[in-house]
Amino acid sequence: MTEIWTHIPIMAEQIADLLLQNPDGVYVDATLGLGGHTRLFLSRLSPRARIFGFDKDEEALQLARERVADTRLEAVHASYTQAPDVLHAQGIDGADGALFDLGLSSYQLDNPSRGFSLLQNGPLDMRFDLSAKLTAADIVNTWPLDKLEYILWEYGEEHQANKIALAIMKARKEAAITTTQALRQIVESVVPRYGKKHPATQTFQALRIACNDELNTVQTALNTLEQLIRPGGRAAILTFHSLEDRLVKNHFKMLAQTGHWTLVNKHALAPKYDEIRQNRRARSAKLRVVERKK
Ligand SMILES: C[S@@+](CC[C@H](N)C(=O)[O-])C[C@H]1O[C@@H](n2cnc3c(N)ncnc32)[C@H](O)[C@@H]1O
Repeated sequence: MTEIWTHIPIMAEQIADLLLQNPDGVYVDATLGLGGHTRLFLSRLSPRARIFGFDKDEEALQLARERVADTRLEAVHASYTQAPDVLHAQGIDGADGALFDLGLSSYQLDNPSRGFSLLQNGPLDMRFDLSAKLTAADIVNTWPLDKLEYILWEYGEEHQANKIALAIMKARKEAAITTTQALRQIVESVVPRYGKKHPATQTFQALRIACNDELNTVQTALNTLEQLIRPGGRAAILTFHSLEDRLVKNHFKMLAQTGHWTLVNKHALAPKYDEIRQNRRARSAKLRVVERKK
């Protein structure tokens, strides 16, 4: 595989400072991606430490294995919702820390064949896991109007959900919508451009979330944090849009109310100005960290 792909890990130093409390510990990188965070973590941990890295994307995992090249990393092709089971199967009760860096990597976004980018033409795919069945093309070509409108409204927070869903229904009667370009043109034909944001941005976000069932998956992981993190351990979650951040914020608040967990920071942390200047993709990041009491 080529080495052209990059993904700059976001808020990496801050996350490492907050998460790595035990240099000999067991850690989970729930969203390994290209292994950027894991590489930094390993540089700070002892030879006895271990990191279990999860990703649904086999291509990304392969790149991560090559880039990290460290026997302390075990890269697992599975959803992070399986992390507690994978650890327990190895006789590990829980992790000292887990990072969830939600969303997609630059590797996926910048690769037109994956169909995530509205700026480059490619197949309308959007699956994190290429062995999964449902693609974004399946959604736009087969889902009924009300379901399309629902995901555009709920997952895209798209105010023109009805207009766009109707335009998709009309277009697919003529010909199947199979490329990112075709979908982009359908949205452009009914929604005028305001300001810098492309009118199809929210539609693409909605489809990606629906295709990978992202919000339910995040909620499942939140509901099983107790099985993943050992007493005294921490979970750090990096989100990139308000829908995910709301789930995390509410769940962490509820955990703190049980008296068994503490919020490490009262409010979400954001990247520093310098980081945002160097990496535009960091601009919407929010970091929340919670600790399980001993
Ligand atoms: C923002 S990237 C992670 C980047 C990584 N922290 C790095 O520094 O290279 C998010 C990754 O999470 C993966 N992913 C998304 N949903 C997942 C899930 N349910 N389980 C495991 N990995 C998932 C995506 O395939 C993507 O590679």
